Amino acid sequence: MLRSLGIPFEIMTTPAASATLSSQLTARIASRQARVAVIGMGYVGLPLALLYTEEKFRVTGFDVDQRKVDTLNAGGSYIFRISPEEIQRARSGGLTATSNYPQIAEMDAIIICVPTPLNEYHEPDLSYITNTAHAIAPHLRAGQFVILESTTYPGTTEEVLVPILENENRNGLKAARKGQSSENAFYVAFSPEREDPGNTSVARRDIPKVVGGLDPLASELAAVLYGAIFNRVVRVSSPAAAEMTKLLENIYRCVNIALVNELKLLSLRMGLDIWEVIDAAATKPFGFQPFYPGPGLGGHCIPVDPFYLSWKAKEWDFHTRFIELAGEINIGMPYHVIASVVGALNRRKKALNGSRVLVLGVAYKRDIDDLRESPALTIIELLQKEGAEVSYHDPFFPMIGKGRKYDLQMKRTPLENLGQYDCVLIVTDHSEYDYPKIVQESRLVVDTRNATKGIESEKVVRC
Ligand SMILES: NC(=O)c1ccc[n+]([C@@H]2O[C@H](COP(=O)([O-])OP(=O)(O)OC[C@H]3O[C@@H](n4cnc5c(N)ncnc54)[C@H](O)[C@@H]3O)[C@@H](O)[C@H]2O)c1
Repeated sequence: MLRSLGIPFEIMTTPAASATLSSQLTARIASRQARVAVIGMGYVGLPLALLYTEEKFRVTGFDVDQRKVDTLNAGGSYIFRISPEEIQRARSGGLTATSNYPQIAEMDAIIICVPTPLNEYHEPDLSYITNTAHAIAPHLRAGQFVILESTTYPGTTEEVLVPILENENRNGLKAARKGQSSENAFYVAFSPEREDPGNTSVARRDIPKVVGGLDPLASELAAVLYGAIFNRVVRVSSPAAAEMTKLLENIYRCVNIALVNELKLLSLRMGLDIWEVIDAAATKPFGFQPFYPGPGLGGHCIPVDPFYLSWKAKEWDFHTRFIELAGEINIGMPYHVIASVVGALNRRKKALNGSRVLVLGVAYKRDIDDLRESPALTIIELLQKEGAEVSYHDPFFPMIGKGRKYDLQMKRTPLENLGQYDCVLIVTDHSEYDYPKIVQESRLVVDTRNATKGIESEKVVRC
């Protein structure tokens, strides 16, 4: 394989081999000869693969989900915001998908974008990363570059990924490490994904890419590889520093969202409109960044990632109190929503038990087709538990089946005849909804997102 890539075999066995292999790879990236593997063709991996094909790289997407592989190879898409036409363009530019790991040997750069969820005890579940590492290792060759993008605790790349790759490859290869030159080296780095789904104000290539290599040459390679598709690359000193950077960003969001959620609860008691207050505070040109309250945290990142750090912190007898407190407040928000619905119905002399409730929007945030960890799921379950007759509408989900933590088996109801419901509950403020019309046609609207801002009506309860 190395011969077919034009890399003389002798280079692998000389002491300066590590540097030579890295400059070979740099040249291959610059000339677009380098072959890029993206492992995990989900919300992160697929857009990344498309960015590389746009820049004329030949990309192979690896996934264990055969349906995704088949869909991509047939020119189709399974992510709403990526059109089949984009996939077809990428396919003619060299994108292919496979579940066949031996093809890893043909790749130059291997970027891992697999899930990192929590298990039932709220602990990191690294099984997707370890399974990927076990699958890659037997096909690893000198000079290849492996980058982990999955969000995880500091130390994962060095303590979990690298040992599997080193112990299970067939050629006695070692990862290139700081200060050590290795003749049979592969390169390793961590680079966090920073995508903000649904955000159309920042182009993906304008989001600076943080990279931390296990070795200076690996950082250099990461800067070259990502520099091909991102406008700015930010280097940090190690994979652990890059892992921690991502967690800091998400913990910052999680804690600040908890803060405004708590202040919202207080404001409601005090008769103040928290959104008005946040908007006013946001006019300060320095020292304040607005965060907005909601019905609870959702998505694959903010509700999950902070607990990766709290778990790891215990190894140092350290208790991450801000994370725990933020978690407590945010996890409590769906219960606040239920209490608000109960209160609103009660003021109309109705019980929740037996009431017809329409949940509007179930995605975890506006205008996206992602249901993971959505607070709407908890809210629907809690409403049903209290005896409500629950229907839902969401433009992105014709049905809600079974997930890791729920099994609702519901079909979307048409957005019509809203007067039949005792309560219309806005959980996700999709922009295609006509809120004035919804208020006009409904008997009672409970709004968890301030979607009805500016609509003055006795029927609206903001919570
Ligand atoms: N979705 C986001 O907005 C976002 C943003 C920043 C960071 N992240 C992080 O990126 C990582 C991936 O998230 P995602 O949203 O793309 O997840 P996803 O579930 O959408 O995609 C992951 C893909 O990996 C595949 N997969 C699982 N195990 C595999 C294996 N052994 N080999 C090959 N494929 C495998 C799955 O089939 C799936 O298609 C996570 O760590 C997440 O925390 C996600």
